[in-house]
Amino acid sequence: MTTSKSPIAVTGSTGALGGKVASLLSDDGYSLRLLARSPERAPALPNSAVVECNFGDLDQATEALRGVEVLFMVSAAEHEDRLAQHLTFVDAAQAAGIKHIIYTSFQGAAPGALFTLARDHYATEQHIKASGMSWTMLRDSFYLDFLTAVVGEDGVIRGPAGDGRVAAVSRDDVARVAAEVLRNPKAHAVTTYDLTGPTAVSFDETAKIISKATGQRVTFHNETLAEAYESRKPWGAPDWQNDAWVSTYTAIAAGEVSAVSDAVEKITGQKPMSLEQFVAAR
Ligand SMILES: NC(=O)c1ccc[n+]([C@@H]2O[C@H](COP(=O)([O-])OP(=O)(O)OC[C@H]3O[C@@H](n4cnc5c(N)ncnc54)[C@H](OP(=O)(O)O)[C@@H]3O)[C@@H](O)[C@H]2O)c1
Repeated sequence: MTTSKSPIAVTGSTGALGGKVASLLSDDGYSLRLLARSPERAPALPNSAVVECNFGDLDQATEALRGVEVLFMVSAAEHEDRLAQHLTFVDAAQAAGIKHIIYTSFQGAAPGALFTLARDHYATEQHIKASGMSWTMLRDSFYLDFLTAVVGEDGVIRGPAGDGRVAAVSRDDVARVAAEVLRNPKAHAVTTYDLTGPTAVSFDETAKIISKATGQRVTFHNETLAEAYESRKPWGAPDWQNDAWVSTYTAIAAGEVSAVSDAVEKITGQKPMSLEQFVAAR
C-alpha cells in the first residue's frame, strides 16, 4: 500500500490499459481517483471516485488532480493535437502538486524517431522531466494485438517493414508493470523502462505464427513507401495519421522497436507473453 493516504490517480480507465491497471490496484485495496472524459463510462470500483477530466482542459485537470500525489498518465488517443493535450495535462499535474507521474511512453521515443508518434512521446517525456515532479517512463513497444489487427481481410499484412523486427508486448504485461510501479513509485523513480515481449519477430514470422495458430493463410507483403501511402488512401485519413501509420512499419524496418528488454520479468517476476501465447489465448 502507499504510505500516503491520498488516492492514486489513474487516467484512461475507460480504455484497455488504464482499465486493467485500475482493476489491479482496486483488487489490492487501493483508493483510486479515476480521471475520465466520460465519467459515466468509467468502471465502478470500490474505494474509487470518478472525476471528469480532459487532458486539454488545464483548469479542469488541475482541479481533478488536487489532493493526489501519484498519477498514472496513459497517453491519449491518437489525435492531431495529442502533444498539446499531453503538455497541458502535465502542466495541470504540476500545478496540482503531483509528486510522481508514471507515463506510458513508447520504445525508441526520440526527437528524430521514424515513428512520428514516438517524437510526441519524447516531447511529453521532456516536459515531465522539466516539471520538477518525480517520474517513471514506461516505454511500451507496440502492443501484441497490433500484430494481429493489421492482417487484412484477404489475409495479407501490408507495410514497408522489410525484415525488421518488433518486440511487441501485451497490454496485460504493461498493466502489471504499471500497477507494481504505482504500488511502490519511489523504487522506480527517475527511471525509464522499455517494456517488450520475450522476443522480437519479423512480419514474415508473424504471418507464419498467426497462420499456424488460426489455420487462416496469412502472408506479409513488404510494400514500398509509395505503395504504403497508396494502399491507405481509401481510408481517407489526414496526412498526419497516414504518416503515423506508415512510419509504424518504417520504424520496425529500421530496428527502432527490435530491442528485447527484461524489464517486465524483473519488475513483475513473470515472463512476458509471446506472440504465440497471445494468439493461442484469443
Ligand atoms: N503501444 C501500442 O501499440 C499502442 C497501440 C495503441 C495505443 N497506444 C497508446 O496507449 C494508450 C493506451 O492504450 P489503450 O489500449 O488502453 O487505449 P484505449 O483503449 O483507446 O484507451 C485510451 C484511454 O485514454 C483516454 N483518453 C484518450 N484521450 C484522452 C484525452 N484527451 N483526455 C483524457 N483521456 C483521454 C480514453 O478515454 P475515452 O474513453 O474518453 O476515449 C481511454 O480511456 C493509447 O491511448 C495510446 O496512446 C499504444
